[in-house]
Amino acid sequence: MTKRLTTSAGAPVPSNNTSATAGPRGPVLLEDYQLIEKLAHQNRERIPERVVHAKGWGAQGTFTVTHDISRYTCASLFSKVGTTCEILSRWSTVAGELGAADAERDVRGFSVKFYTEDGNWDVVGNNTPIFFIRDAYKFPDFIRTQKRHPKTNLRSPEAMFDFWAAQPESVHQVTILMSDRGIPVNPMHMHGYGSHTYSMWNAAGERHWVKFHFRCQQPIRNYTNEQAEELIGKTRESYQEDLYNAIDEGRFPKWELNIQVMPEAQAETLDFNPFDLTKVWPHDQFPLIPVGMLEFNRNPDNYWQFVENAAYSPSNKIPGIGFSPDKMLQGRIFAYADAHRYRLGTHYEALPANAPKAPVHHYHKDGSMRFFPQVTGHPDAYYEPNQYEESAKADPSVMEPPLRISGDADRYVQEDKDADYVQPRALYAEVLDEGGRKRLHLNMARAMSPCSDSVKERWYAVLRRVHPEYEAGVRKAAEDLKSGTIDDYPGIPVTGDTPVRVAE
Ligand code: NDP
Ligand code: HEM
Repeated sequence: MTKRLTTSAGAPVPSNNTSATAGPRGPVLLEDYQLIEKLAHQNRERIPERVVHAKGWGAQGTFTVTHDISRYTCASLFSKVGTTCEILSRWSTVAGELGAADAERDVRGFSVKFYTEDGNWDVVGNNTPIFFIRDAYKFPDFIRTQKRHPKTNLRSPEAMFDFWAAQPESVHQVTILMSDRGIPVNPMHMHGYGSHTYSMWNAAGERHWVKFHFRCQQPIRNYTNEQAEELIGKTRESYQEDLYNAIDEGRFPKWELNIQVMPEAQAETLDFNPFDLTKVWPHDQFPLIPVGMLEFNRNPDNYWQFVENAAYSPSNKIPGIGFSPDKMLQGRIFAYADAHRYRLGTHYEALPANAPKAPVHHYHKDGSMRFFPQVTGHPDAYYEPNQYEESAKADPSVMEPPLRISGDADRYVQEDKDADYVQPRALYAEVLDEGGRKRLHLNMARAMSPCSDSVKERWYAVLRRVHPEYEAGVRKAAEDLKSGTIDDYPGIPVTGDTPVRVAE
């Protein structure tokens, strides 16, 4: 049976197409509150877009524990093989605004919300294991260089490379960004990383440092610049189309959650700082340990409700999982919930995308979006401590074991700059093959081409310290671009059998 259209206060609406007017030609009567409600709602349909990672694509699914890691963590989620929980993911580009084209060269955000029985656990990572900088103090400046120039209102390669040249630790991330993995064909064909070092503690109170990896179960696939440009000419929404259609057609994307694990004391003895976000933990020293499988099998019924309203935060953790001294992580623990209170409103965690599946008992009181009852166990218990036995009380059994820290409070600069070139060198010289290096040279030369000579030279000096052939290769690619002799630069070899939407 057809439903009766109502106002938002529930009153039946006689017409949804005609304004109330004085006579057939108007004017419109001010008393037409139904018209006013309709227009006023439209005026309020936008909220601030995310200050970064504004363009995104989401899906819902299930996480299933496949391996026992209870020797590392007492988290109830990992207490036994076979445990499942619902998940919500959002993948994103970093720099573009809400209307940006999907297939742009950029780092991809990779966020997962696990709705566990102990509350929400969020991993808010990227499709790269590392980042451009290692101190949160630099993040707003870094993002300035990725966004629009105040006068031209255009993106500025000059600003990007100027900043990166002044922060040589960025060369690791810039190398990945300019490599084959800089334009994934869609979110279903890339790995995800928690990137930061986190921690886990087990039932005996022992702490391990941990990195999270989401290993893609679909083939890794990426576009060249040319393929992406051709695609963007046809559609700016390729990721949304691919992801939505795949799930709609029952082709459910999967990732395997893995961890790398380091005993707490080992952090003191390594030849690199394991809390530095510009560094990976090499696989041969810290092998991947499988944990469970993520499968995304539902498209949200309403994109706005579940993807735009999703609020991910590195501060959302559950007992058994902890932070680490990573300076970037520490900054992010503050930044996200603050952004959510501004972007979504005070009680954003009561929205369906963010509402935990676990019972919620807190004493936060009024404010915008207070549309849910206060459940503290007793109607008079709106503060704590109180006289009511049944009212919500803190649970000391979930206390994290103490963490020994030492040192003088100061503002420290990382001293050993040579260390910043070791891992990018391994990536360049040992992981990439010759074709991969050539495409990297060309992509970087293209990206730098609008920059001034002084910025270029400063960046070449950084590349030289990674590997002399890296500098020479990008210089040569810049010359080849100028002379139009780039025919012998190879395309990305196609692997796997997943269909790709553009002609290859
Ligand atoms: P490994 O040879 O064990 O691992 C190399 C890793 O690099 C693999 O995970 C591979 O992904 C990934 N990779 C391949 N091409 C690219 C690319 N263009 N951009 C980003 N990642 C890529 O070596 P190590 O662990 O000793 O690390 C060597 C270097 O590899 C590091 O310095 C770092 O630059 C890079 N790397 C390391 C990771 C880590 O966690 N150890 C993770 C990702 C990159 P795949 O498995 O799909 O082939
Ligand atoms: C989004 C801040 C570093 C991954 C955001 C948002 C802010 C922010 C304010 C918008 C949040 C929202 O409105 O919902 C910061 C700060 C950083 C930092 C201050 C450094 C100190 C990083 C790093 C990563 C990352 C290192 C990945 C390893 C993401 C992702 C999103 C995001 C994936 C989108 C989340 C979503 O899908 O809703 N960041 N960020 N950020 N950030 Fe960061």
